[in-house]
Amino acid sequence: MRHLENRMEQELIYYEELDSTNAEMKRLVEKKMAKEGTTIIAGMQTAGRGRHGRVWHSPSNGSLYMSILVEPSFHVDKVSMLTLVMAFAVATTLLEQGIEVQIKWPNDLVISGKKVCGILTELYHSSEKGMYLIVGVGVNLSKEMLPMELMDLATSICMDREMLAKMLTTKFWEAYQQFQKIQNLTFIKDEYNRMLVNCSRQVRVLDPAGEYSGIAQGIDDEGKLLVQKENGEIVSVFAGEVSVRGIYGYV
Ligand code: BTN
Repeated sequence: MRHLENRMEQELIYYEELDSTNAEMKRLVEKKMAKEGTTIIAGMQTAGRGRHGRVWHSPSNGSLYMSILVEPSFHVDKVSMLTLVMAFAVATTLLEQGIEVQIKWPNDLVISGKKVCGILTELYHSSEKGMYLIVGVGVNLSKEMLPMELMDLATSICMDREMLAKMLTTKFWEAYQQFQKIQNLTFIKDEYNRMLVNCSRQVRVLDPAGEYSGIAQGIDDEGKLLVQKENGEIVSVFAGEVSVRGIYGYV
């Protein structure tokens, strides 16, 4: 375990190997060894976690596996917006580096339709902290070939891991401060929608109550995806409940 410091004076803890940076953050919180802003990075993960219970492939190939601890003072209903704030922070960081990245709603980052970054936000409660969030970010940075099963779905970028981690955390905390003040996404909505790969595209909404197709119109102030159905009705889709697919593939 190596302690580093970034520009924002937040504690950055590096491990060569972990099961999952999100899992380690939870253990540190339980041992009262983490505070808001604590950031964990691992060189590899043996049990990297993805959304919807999936596995996040996490070999030791220079990719970024990072978790940040957030202790919000706002209502639990607002929490899902924070994942979009992180997606925005990653996307703007990469764009500033000249990388043509787009956002697949709500929080995947894609390049030419292939996933380069995923974000997993987990919500917990402790008697000491009350509600707290662990925001986990995985960015594929490897120059090596991806495994066969991921080749059509995933891609990677070439960047220095430590530099990227510092840029991302700085950008995230800047955006987070704004979010805390207004507790909605008006401050990033237009820019987020410009980066949204789904915008003006036909999408299929995988709603457990009944699937439907429509044209994605962008996010609203709360980060819900506005989808115009074939009958003209506009519905707002909440990320926690459903996923959205492109008609001809992942995006
Ligand atoms: C997704 O399914 O798109 C989310 C993937 C999130 C992966 C990151 S890697 C760092 C952190 N630790 C984990 O176990 N998962 C997240």
